[in-house]
Order: sequence, then structure tokens, then C-alpha cells
Amino acid sequence: MLKDEILRLKQAKDAVILAHFYQYPEVQDIADYVGDSLDLSRVAEKASAKIIVFCGVNFMAETAKILSPDKKVLLPAKDAGCPMAMMISKTKLLKYKEQHPNRKVICYVNSYADVKALSDVCVTSSNAEKIIMHFKDEKMLYIPDYNLGNYLKDRYQLDIDLWPGHCLVHNRLVEEDVLKMKALYPKAEVLIHPEAPLAVLKLADYVGSTRGILNRAKASCAKEFIIGTEEGILHPLRKENPDKEFYVLHPSMVCRNMKKTTLKEVYEALLNEQYEITIEEEIRLKAKQALDLMLELS
Ligand code: 13P
Ligand code: SF4
Repeated sequence: MLKDEILRLKQAKDAVILAHFYQYPEVQDIADYVGDSLDLSRVAEKASAKIIVFCGVNFMAETAKILSPDKKVLLPAKDAGCPMAMMISKTKLLKYKEQHPNRKVICYVNSYADVKALSDVCVTSSNAEKIIMHFKDEKMLYIPDYNLGNYLKDRYQLDIDLWPGHCLVHNRLVEEDVLKMKALYPKAEVLIHPEAPLAVLKLADYVGSTRGILNRAKASCAKEFIIGTEEGILHPLRKENPDKEFYVLHPSMVCRNMKKTTLKEVYEALLNEQYEITIEEEIRLKAKQALDLMLELS
């Protein structure tokens, strides 16, 4: 069986498998660690195995390589990218920085290494609030997710310029989607990821990262939940809370890139040691400074 072969190869090659909450249930189930972007970067930083197999999208595997350069980091699905990360480039950011030299650049981890390398600090959806508040008296630029930046800008009335990037999965939500689901499940708590538009977030009972959503669902007395993030999160939610009901806010909440990794890709990644992440050392070192500051402040 594929699963047994994966476990055998993993041991034989001294590999560790990390998976994001948006992965297929069977991929999450064979992983050594399942988590949100922040959890997985912390695990990658401390990993002692020789190989890290990163079941997620490429910016996540890149983050692992930046933090753990001596490890071989493998992304099982070669073209699993994050469209949001492609909505900003090094050239565009350099141009902005020339025009606004005094703004601190706060960079969502959903970005590539060359963009992180030009940033002052990185954030994930788990620590963005804390880190942005650390710089609250400064002028900031938040890249590349408009919605997450706008949510914090609105909440704390901060001086933040916002980059016009977005997540294709969360940005398509509209208020109507929430109102319809609330009418169907009036007792349910509404938990939404901050990559959704502000008008949608204003209808939520809780706004937070994937880890935050899991923690909230566990701690809450409610028995039903409407979940405004990628459907992969339903797997750990149901596993951890068998007595509670979870409904995804909209059926289109599927990240095609996260779904490019199946057990077959994980098996082939281990067998052929593919696809290896490489980053130019000068870029890696600069990007690491922004990630190190994030880990220190979070
Ligand atoms: P989390 O850090 O909350 O897991 O989010 C990652 C992501 O890509 C959300 O779309
Ligand atoms: Fe990128 Fe959105 Fe997929 Fe997250 S859900 S990896 S932000 S496209």
C-alpha cells in the first residue's frame, strides 16, 4: 500500500513530513506534523531529520528552506503555487520602496523569498495582529494580501498602505454567503479567515488563522460552526470535535494548488527526492532576517 511505502521510505531516508491544514485528509493523516503557516515554520526551523517533505504550496516549502538551509526540502507537487504570492514582484516592491522610503514593509509569508528579502518583517495570519501592533506608531506597507491588511488597518486605524493582492479562494466570499448560511444554521458560530473581504469579516463571530479557527471551535460551547476558510480544515475540526457540526461557508472554498498533492506525489517525492527547493544564499540570508524577526516577535 502507498501509505506503508511512504512510511518505510520516510524512515529509511530520515525524512519528516509536514502538512498544512488545507491538504487532503489522507495526506494530513500520514504527516508527522499538521499545522498552519506559523506552526509549520517553527517545526521546520527545529527539524532534525535530513529531509523535509512539505505538503503545501511553494512559499511554505521555501520558508522551510530559508529557516533550515542544511535540510533537503522537497515540495511533492512541483507546480503547487499560491496565486497571491505571485501578485507582488521584487521589481514592483523595489519601485514602491524608492517612492516611500520611510514605510516599514510588513510581508505576509504568502510571498516568495526575493520579496521577503526586501521586507522588514514577515507575518502569518496567526501573528499579524501582534506584529503590526508592535509597529503601530510607524508608517507601514502591508504586502501582498489587501484583505488581511485592511482588516487590521480598519480595526486599529493604522497608517498602512495596502498592496492589491488577494487569495482567489477567500476573496470571492460575499456578505450574502454568510447571511444565507446563518439563515440555514441560526445557532452556528461563524469563524472566518482574515483573507476574506472586510464586509464578510464584519459578519463573523471570530476572525483568525486556520490554527485560530481550530482553537476557537474547540474552546467554544457552540455545537455548530460555519467555517470561512479552505475546506481541508474540516478534517482536523471534525477529528478534534466529534460532537460538533461544521459547515463550510461556500462550496467553492477549495484551493486548487493545495489539492495538487496526493499520496502518490508524497510517495514519489520520497522515492526520487523531488522537487528540491533551492534559494540563492544572498536572498535566503536577507529573507531569513525578516522571518527571524517574525519568530522573535510572535
Ligand atoms: P494559515 O497561516 O492561517 O494557515 O493560512 C495560510 C493560507 O494560505 C491561508 O489561505
Ligand atoms: Fe494561497 Fe489562497 Fe491557496 Fe492560501 S488558500 S495557499 S492564500 S491561494
